[in-house]
Amino acid sequence: MANNTNLGAAKAAKNDEFYTQYADIQKEVNAYLEYNPDTFRDKTVLLPCDDPEWSNFTRFFAQNFERLGLKRLISTSYAVESKKYKDYEPTLFETESPLFDIDKTRIKGKIFELTRDTNGSGRIDIDDLEWHYLEGDGDFRSPEVCALRDQSDIIVTNPPFSLFREFIAWIIEGGNRFLILGNMNAITYLEVFPLIMSNRIWAGVGFNLSMVYKAAYKNYLEANQKFVRSKGYNPDENYIKVPGVCWFTNLDHGRRHEPLQLMSAKDNIRFSKHKEIREKGYLKYDNYDAIEVPYTDAIPNDYDGTMGVPITFLGKYCPEQFEIIGSEKQNEGIRTKVYPEQIQIESSGRRSRVTKLNDGAAILLDEPPISETYYIIGNDIYSQVYKRLFIRKKQ
Ligand SMILES: C[S@@+](CC[C@H](N)C(=O)[O-])C[C@H]1O[C@@H](n2cnc3c(N)ncnc32)[C@H](O)[C@@H]1O
Repeated sequence: MANNTNLGAAKAAKNDEFYTQYADIQKEVNAYLEYNPDTFRDKTVLLPCDDPEWSNFTRFFAQNFERLGLKRLISTSYAVESKKYKDYEPTLFETESPLFDIDKTRIKGKIFELTRDTNGSGRIDIDDLEWHYLEGDGDFRSPEVCALRDQSDIIVTNPPFSLFREFIAWIIEGGNRFLILGNMNAITYLEVFPLIMSNRIWAGVGFNLSMVYKAAYKNYLEANQKFVRSKGYNPDENYIKVPGVCWFTNLDHGRRHEPLQLMSAKDNIRFSKHKEIREKGYLKYDNYDAIEVPYTDAIPNDYDGTMGVPITFLGKYCPEQFEIIGSEKQNEGIRTKVYPEQIQIESSGRRSRVTKLNDGAAILLDEPPISETYYIIGNDIYSQVYKRLFIRKKQ
């Protein structure tokens, strides 16, 4: 098991070298400024897991240093010899600098800092960045970068996909404010979901995005054909498109205080745009004490009990309107039964013995569904719904 996990992590780490586009960072940051223009004022912002010579995070925060009112900007990079992908040439910025060191360039991380107008241009911007090699390789978990975290107010980055869980734990340990990119599936991770339930983490403004990332190096895409093909990419423009990307944050923004406009259960059953709701109404789960609400816009505004909603609800979640009380895995007080082994019947007709019905919310059916996987226990027939969060109307 441990070996499989390591192998999976190693494979995933090869896919960590994608860079966020400037416009995506700008759009997200602007949404926080609209809500509170002082979100970043007098703050030290740390951009770990960056590569300041390439990264648009460094570019954006350096160029907007004065507009945001920053006190200090710190950006760190990870040494190429510590990365899984090692095909890398130092930039002219580094090789032409008097600080360039041939012995350090591949094994040391770098730190870039911005605090003052170093070139006397009359403004603080990207041309005032100062840099040097770090003592270590720039791993965000190293004592050196942990010390930078502890001096910083806000952490902003697109962390390595393969280390997302560890990265969240690292930020929470530091107690910082943060704004980071991740995959929507992270919502239900055991390390993440309790933080979402307790409103210590929430979805940013950009949610469930189909994000276009630039590949870091010229031949990176060629070396990662399989991953890249699975996500969809344009070989001419050196980018990939990754679906289901979200910003995660604990910075406040306006969208999360806008309640959803919803109808009563009765009106939904009469007028919902979803045929399924008009025809079947709200079904009760067989194994959770909750009703199934398959669409966020079909949440009834007058139901006081527990409701199972799609995880995309998080992008519309207003904590003054609803509370999140569980997920399929963290379901204390909501789960009502555990099933014995079931027979799974796939849409192809293939039968197998499984215990999968216990992984999610189940609906007891009158008859087998058409072209859908279902489960049999004795004479009972069940279907399983997609991943759900459990919510309740705020009293
Ligand atoms: C998804 S890329 C994002 C880069 C940049 N933040 C951006 O979005 O433009 C993640 C970066 O983290 C680096 N990285 C991987 N493991 C790391 C670690 N343990 N500590 C610090 N950085 C790491 C990768 O080499 C890569 O440059």
